Amino acid sequence: MTRSAAIILHDYEPSTNVFLDDVWAGLSQPAKRLPSKYFYDQQGCMLFDAICELDEYYVTRTELAIMRREALDISARIGPRAEIVEFGSGSSIKTRLLLDGLRQPTAYIPIDIARGHLAATAAQLRVRYPNLEVAPLCADFSEWFEPPECNGAAQRRVVYFPGSTLGNFEPDDADTLLARMAAMAGPGGGLLIGIDLHKDQRTLEAAYNDARGVTAQFNLNLLARINRELQGDFRLNQFEHVAIYNDTARRIEMHLISRRPQTVRVAGREFHFARGEAICTEYSYKYDRGEFRRQAHRAGFRHVQTWTDDRERFAVMYFETIG
Ligand code: AVI
Repeated sequence: MTRSAAIILHDYEPSTNVFLDDVWAGLSQPAKRLPSKYFYDQQGCMLFDAICELDEYYVTRTELAIMRREALDISARIGPRAEIVEFGSGSSIKTRLLLDGLRQPTAYIPIDIARGHLAATAAQLRVRYPNLEVAPLCADFSEWFEPPECNGAAQRRVVYFPGSTLGNFEPDDADTLLARMAAMAGPGGGLLIGIDLHKDQRTLEAAYNDARGVTAQFNLNLLARINRELQGDFRLNQFEHVAIYNDTARRIEMHLISRRPQTVRVAGREFHFARGEAICTEYSYKYDRGEFRRQAHRAGFRHVQTWTDDRERFAVMYFETIG
């Protein structure tokens, strides 16, 4: 049967007021911060897609190669008639590899904060998989939400969280998110997750400081977005992109550094910057496989299988809920 009905997008998009509150709160702290989830407006999504194509950004390429090579094994692990809930679906490229391998998936629920990108991707998937129920949900997945009810009689629900996006959450928040995923997957459910592995500093820093400056544009777009949406007056050329690997905390830290003393206004409120003062815009944690297995276990998951590349740069891991 071909479903011809239009796709219904469930919309819990965070409001502009929430964005403003978060920006004001972040810039008021002694160590200024901006949440990385706000990178992803339309421009930010395009820049992120460009990052994924960069030579230096091994992350996407490596995960895609694992998914291509292991698609059949992964789908055998997941089993037939699964409902897939994807967190941070973006362009859903890896999802196509997953869906192509799965036997009779019943529904696909992509969740993303970027509404326009989500709607376009869902429409493309509907054309490609006419028999699959596609139920997109626009939401900030760092907050709790109920996934939409789907019609197909699924045998299990599997949360799919590729791209090592978990690495953009600090450890306590990652624990909370994993526990929510376990609750959402429910009894007999699963988690298929991509995690970036700890490696040498040079490779890591190159991935976040590419020669073409795309990551710098991606980082600075956060200030441009504040200018566009919150009447900000950041001068982009007065801030510099910096990304360093903190080997102790095992994370990339992205900052925007003020090139001089300056005052910036956002929706009428003033923020002062000293020369060299940083706004921390993103952490990207890198994992050890064994430690991650333990972290997932604490959240309610039992490890089933791990697939990795020859150089052990990235891991795709499958877990089932405990009990
Ligand atoms: C989405 N996330 C996993 C990316 C990362 O590698 O942490 C975001 C990114 N930031 C700069 N480059 C890519």
